[in-house]
Amino acid sequence: MTKHSVKTILKSKNIQKLSMITAYDYLFAKLFDSEVDMILVGDSLNMSFGGKKDTLDASLDIMIYHTRAVCNGAPNSFVICDMPFGTYTDEIVGLNSAIRVYQETNADAIKIEGGAEKAHIIKKITQNGIAVVGHIGLLPQFFRSEGYSVKGKEEKELQKLINDAKAVEEAGAFLLVIEGVKAQTAKEITKAVNIPTIGIGAGKDTDGQVLVWSDMLGFFEDFKPKFVREYLHGAQLVKNAIRNYNDDVKSGKFPTEKESY
Ligand code: KIV
Repeated sequence: MTKHSVKTILKSKNIQKLSMITAYDYLFAKLFDSEVDMILVGDSLNMSFGGKKDTLDASLDIMIYHTRAVCNGAPNSFVICDMPFGTYTDEIVGLNSAIRVYQETNADAIKIEGGAEKAHIIKKITQNGIAVVGHIGLLPQFFRSEGYSVKGKEEKELQKLINDAKAVEEAGAFLLVIEGVKAQTAKEITKAVNIPTIGIGAGKDTDGQVLVWSDMLGFFEDFKPKFVREYLHGAQLVKNAIRNYNDDVKSGKFPTEKESY
């Protein structure tokens, strides 16, 4: 797969579905490089990599560290860095944070959670030459104040989400993540904007899909959301391998002469 640009991603709308996966490190980014349309260094790393209960204390330094590692592993992929909680509280804070990401990593774009109320911040950042991905619906950075709940179940919420999507598009975002939204609502949002939408827990009618790598490969066992499809039982494979290694060490089967100098 050749590396995407903002232009080729925009052109994909109504032509080809887009695939996105998260990655947090060099090793897995290398495995994913060129296999999917985009790689997101999501602040979900705070939970599945850092073992925290939510994403809120992922700092910009942490996101930059992981984005560098992912860019090192996936030089042929379009890489997006998630802006963590508290790093885009207003236009200047947001712009300075986004500039740090562009200057200190090779990320192609940044992602910002929020709708119409964040549009002025997105506009400031895009006007300064930084590509922005929007993110509406269920917003993990609002977990402590709002909890996790599926959005777009009522007409009032549908209208708000469509307004949010349009405001984010008008502010200059080239792509929109829709998370935890009723499938029919996500379909209508997708029809209402000209930029591609990427769904997670938002049904089949968005312009593409994103999954968190450790969910998709079956490494994260703490809980499994309904929308996750496991393409590998990674945790079980690793546990089997590590037990075999332990048995071989204890029984003296490892190392053999061939594995010795
Ligand atoms: O942090 C993340 O991994 C995300 C995806 C769930 C879209 O924002």
